Amino acid sequence: MAATGSEQTGSKAFYVSTPIYYVNDAPHLGHAYTTVAGDVLSRWHRQRGEKVWYLTGTDEHGQKIMRTAEANGVSPQEWCDRLVEEAWKPLWEHLDIANDDFIRTTEQRHTDRVREFVQDLYDRGEIYQGGYEGPYCVGCEEYKTTGELLDGEGDFAGQKLCPIHKKPVEMLKEENYFFKLSEYGPKLLEHYEANPGFIQPESARNEVVNFVRQGLEDLSISRSTFDWGVKVPWDDKHVIYVWIDALLNYATAVGYGTDQARFEGTFPADVHLVGKDILRFHAVIWPAMLMANGLPLPGRIAANGWLMVGGEKMSKSNLTGISPQQLTEHFGVDAYRWYFLRAIAFGQDGSFSWEDFTARYTSELANDYGNLASRVAAMIGKYFGGELPEATAHGEAEDAIVAGLEKAVATADERIGEELDFSGGIAAVFEFIKQVNGYLTEQEPWKVAKDKSDEGQARLATILRTAAEALRACAVLLNPVMPESSQKLWESLGAEPHLGPLAEQRVPDAAKWNQLATGSTVTKGAVLFPRLPEPKE
Ligand code: MSP
Repeated sequence: MAATGSEQTGSKAFYVSTPIYYVNDAPHLGHAYTTVAGDVLSRWHRQRGEKVWYLTGTDEHGQKIMRTAEANGVSPQEWCDRLVEEAWKPLWEHLDIANDDFIRTTEQRHTDRVREFVQDLYDRGEIYQGGYEGPYCVGCEEYKTTGELLDGEGDFAGQKLCPIHKKPVEMLKEENYFFKLSEYGPKLLEHYEANPGFIQPESARNEVVNFVRQGLEDLSISRSTFDWGVKVPWDDKHVIYVWIDALLNYATAVGYGTDQARFEGTFPADVHLVGKDILRFHAVIWPAMLMANGLPLPGRIAANGWLMVGGEKMSKSNLTGISPQQLTEHFGVDAYRWYFLRAIAFGQDGSFSWEDFTARYTSELANDYGNLASRVAAMIGKYFGGELPEATAHGEAEDAIVAGLEKAVATADERIGEELDFSGGIAAVFEFIKQVNGYLTEQEPWKVAKDKSDEGQARLATILRTAAEALRACAVLLNPVMPESSQKLWESLGAEPHLGPLAEQRVPDAAKWNQLATGSTVTKGAVLFPRLPEPKE
């Protein structure tokens, strides 16, 4: 959990969040997908030189967790503690996630503030007492409308099913407290209108706008049939609805109600990353809660698509049977981080396959990138005794590489840093890698090396120096995505003594040419992307 890069003080942090995940089970590929995306986005902004705050955490209250704990014969708190410490935090560490904080909704720093927030809404007349009866899905922790339910078949014949979980809903009737959500429809629509980038992608935005246009109902914000939650401050027979509790993590984790300076320096989030299944909670309920409390709204709600299996959203009950750890064991952590962002257009659904991962790993990571790095280091070793030569014969071919790099930096920065188009941004860097490979094929340094004239040696030096500079930039640009291999490359290029730590290299400066110091020691370090082992049967 180490924040990387230097931080500016004074300005508001670029604040990125993941959803806080339910701890009814260990994390799977789908959870890791969102968390890696958030990590890459935050690392990218840190390398722009911005102050960044990256938050993730766990959602620990509600009926779903309570029932899982009961089924496992432990208290809900014990269950959560176990899962957080043994499964969630270790996975994020394993995947090199550099989150700045990890919030758990059972922590007192959260629960106390949730009570204050809800009390404040109550005092402002935003909450009233009423009753509700309707179909409830425990998997979603949400009341459903009758219209969206599916008819059960087979084991579930005659029952109504949740369209997401495909499990029977339960009819609930409760005396609850309600938040006057219905009053916020027009204001929300106004906000969407005035801020076209508020909900991404476009398809997600349209879905939310249509939903709100149909008119919002007031929201039941308390439950009285079970007690695993934060107690309603003025009525302790009720616990606060798990979604209200959960959404508030984005405020409580950054000093809401305790540290005003920190709160103002961080809140609101610039990007809330969410799966599209929980878009409405973030794009409708959350902004309405903030409006009701006079707090500023987030910059953008960015919905990622689903990792699919057999045509369905990957979930606890519908898994590939493959854990993130099994993939990292085979492909390595860096390749894992890279693959899902590279292969799936962010915002759209995508499927995982061993074949596709293997093919991309072999062609792009091992052949195009890894080989380039090892060939260049080997040639500098062979022809220059490992001392980085100077480019004294820079010509048109080299100009083309510089121009290619400038384009790659600008495109990657726009795509990743602004548009959250990770795939497009990574592709821009790999286009550049292809260009550098093409340059070496054309320039044939291994042939030029045989020309022992001054001119020949100057060309050889220039070609290898150019390739090394190009690799220096690749290490910088790929560091947010693949920190481990980028560090290896940084070390192999002997860059650190002169340029400083990799995490402190700035994206906007990556295209500045000739940054490496002539004479620095280039070593043929560890292979960046080794050949893959045979898949296990
Ligand atoms: N606890 C709520 C979120 C509260 S946020 C204030 C919740 N938790 S969850 O454990 O179900 O995780 C939801 C998030 O995990 C999704 O929104 C998404 O970001 C990620 N994913 C879970 N399954 C996924 C896929 N199959 N594919 C992509 N992302 C997935 O909902």
